Amino acid sequence: MINQSFFANRRQSLAEQLSDNSAAIIFSAHEKTRSNDTEYLFRQDSTFYYFTGFNEPEAVLVLVKKDNGLQIILFNRDKDEIQEIWHGRRLGQAAALEKFDIDQALSVDELSDKLPELIAGCDTIYHDFFDDNDEFVDGLLEALKANPDCKKTCQLSDLRVISDEMRLFKQSPELAVMREAAKISSAAHTRAMQQCKAGMYEYQLEAEILHHFAMNGARFAAYNTIVGGGENACILHYTENESTLNDGELVLIDAGCELHGYAADITRTFPINGQFSAPQKAIYELVLKAQIAAIKLLVPGNTIKQANDAAIEIMIKGLMELEILNGDVRKLIDDEAHRAFYMHGLSHWIGLDVHDVGDYGGKKRTRVLEPGMTLTVEPGLYFSAKPEIDAKWHNIGVRIEDDILITANGNEVLTKDVVKTVDEIEALMSGAN
Ligand code: GLY
Ligand code: MN
Ligand code: MN
Repeated sequence: MINQSFFANRRQSLAEQLSDNSAAIIFSAHEKTRSNDTEYLFRQDSTFYYFTGFNEPEAVLVLVKKDNGLQIILFNRDKDEIQEIWHGRRLGQAAALEKFDIDQALSVDELSDKLPELIAGCDTIYHDFFDDNDEFVDGLLEALKANPDCKKTCQLSDLRVISDEMRLFKQSPELAVMREAAKISSAAHTRAMQQCKAGMYEYQLEAEILHHFAMNGARFAAYNTIVGGGENACILHYTENESTLNDGELVLIDAGCELHGYAADITRTFPINGQFSAPQKAIYELVLKAQIAAIKLLVPGNTIKQANDAAIEIMIKGLMELEILNGDVRKLIDDEAHRAFYMHGLSHWIGLDVHDVGDYGGKKRTRVLEPGMTLTVEPGLYFSAKPEIDAKWHNIGVRIEDDILITANGNEVLTKDVVKTVDEIEALMSGAN
């Protein structure tokens, strides 16, 4: 668990990066209706959480940086006896002031009245340009400009330029949480391998995974769990998880828990009956070779693009050896021949969001890696039952995904506890059976 002084330090660090005479406005997430009067379980906005550690909806954090210093104000819900009996506890303003290192806690009901006063005279207002509070912020800006005491030049600036960059570099208390999330998720995948039997339903393996998460302190999955047997493994974001698991086929599980807000993201692919067939093994070992080569290259000074290019070259050469691709290797690489079978990216940042924020250095992902960054490594090959592909490869979908931390000297594989070689998987599954 990350303590409050850590969140307070982040607010100070944010304030240092704001321009003089400015304000930053950071909104909590909203509750979302699932159906009629039933809500999804609340999930806090990641950036709001990053700067507060506060887990209630209807809250707004405001930093005002003027000549006379920094003011930090939290707007949050009032205490309310009836609402708290029906729907749960609310911190209220008095406890918020005590708990958080802030200057004022005000009722969120007063936001429209008090916020314009607080930020009057600011030259710049920072907020997230891509959240769903634009209407409120635009109204606020108009109100400020209409005020004769205020300058007409007040500008909006995208907070994410600062906050995303902060979130990209993980500090040691967050890394401790991410290591634990990775450990729990690794053990959940191990459990799924041990419990898997032909004839089970995909949702039953999902239940094994979610059971392990919850029993180990991670009540939520970081994203919807994918359990795809056979041809379903070739649907990248398959989440129906409703089919039976057939003897002789592979199953692909992409699952990670969320712990104290932080995600893990692991994929393992294994034979439902515990033994790889020759074609399954050939594809699996090719993906694994590409993944291991990519992990070696994901070190300070290199880029995701370099690692992805290496993974693609290995996979294209391997596909030629298996006679799935034919022709000139350079031309196949230039023509992106892998795209028919490997149609997603190699890596994404991971943190408070599974697909975390942070600049990638453009579409080609040429940002130079630095210590403190955390990312996934997830090559895959997928062969749906297309007539142009030899039937022996049909319905083989393999992805192998680990989470890594870039360190000063290389990287640390956070998800190393779950096995991934053919021999290790077969040994684990035969021991369990
Ligand atoms: N689980 C989603 C992904 O691997 O990106
Ligand atoms: Mn991923
Ligand atoms: Mn994944």
